[in-house]
Amino acid sequence: IMKIIHTIKELRQWRQSVQSVAFVPTMGNLHAGHLALVQRAQSEAEHVVVSIFVNRLQFGQGEDFDRYPRTLEQDAAKLRDVGVAVLFAPDERELYPNVAQNYQVEPPHLQNELCGAFRPNHFRGVATVVCKLFNIVQADTACFGKKDYQQLAIIRGMVDDLNMPIKIVPVDTGRADDGLALSSRNQYLSATERAEAPRMFQQLQWLAEQVRGGNHDYVALEQAAAAELTAHGWQVDYVEIREAGSLNVARLGDKNLVVLAAARLGTTRLIDNLEFQAA
Ligand code: PAJ
Repeated sequence: IMKIIHTIKELRQWRQSVQSVAFVPTMGNLHAGHLALVQRAQSEAEHVVVSIFVNRLQFGQGEDFDRYPRTLEQDAAKLRDVGVAVLFAPDERELYPNVAQNYQVEPPHLQNELCGAFRPNHFRGVATVVCKLFNIVQADTACFGKKDYQQLAIIRGMVDDLNMPIKIVPVDTGRADDGLALSSRNQYLSATERAEAPRMFQQLQWLAEQVRGGNHDYVALEQAAAAELTAHGWQVDYVEIREAGSLNVARLGDKNLVVLAAARLGTTRLIDNLEFQAA
């Protein structure tokens, strides 16, 4: 018997009636990757709250805010099936009553790197809505996917730096059988593009393999992986090797690395990443 709650007031009332809560913020159109977060959340607390809110603040001009798939009924059915306690689905007026002049959370420079270099204000919008949702839900734990690796780093930084009393749990990326990271945006792909899409993860694996085999020319490896994607019709935003914990540019001697990529197939922008150890 899952509750669907649309208002902050009702959510706060429910919250007072329970002990431990784990929280999974989403924008809906749920797939197996999201449900893995829910499962992890269920192992962390007695009750799980999932939010569904397509956050206008994190979409840029010309991005897919208007056509982002909104599938609340199907999403609610999936969450009910797996035993979620509360689906929190506020509308825009509930969360942003004064969107024209609202307070926002300003992340440090990392917000302008990697995806942030191509999506101005995106991570400010993410940090702001996640901060609001944390304040509303008052969860003990929140689960985030490694699929959005930079987002996870920014949320961790926000929680640490602003002393938010919540534990952040990272969850491994859910993938299709051919390796493509599950994403709501995959459904924008044509059949030809969908067949091509796994190449991104293949290139990340290739690059990690090269580093593990002793090749430490990171810039050359990044360029080679990007060139391979470009040769197959991708428009590459970046392929970058970074230190996994800090997301600083990787330096020789760093042990824990992550390679992150973003590229477009047609009009669809895909991202992926892979953690690995330097040899
Ligand atoms: P959304 O893209 O709906 O993702 C919600 C959560 O699911 C995020 O933590 C994301 O990393 C995780 N996720 C998505 N695809 C995944 C996959 N294939 N494997 C594992 N986890 C996956 O991320 C957002 O929404 C928003 O930015 C949000 C945090 C809700 C703020 O608006």
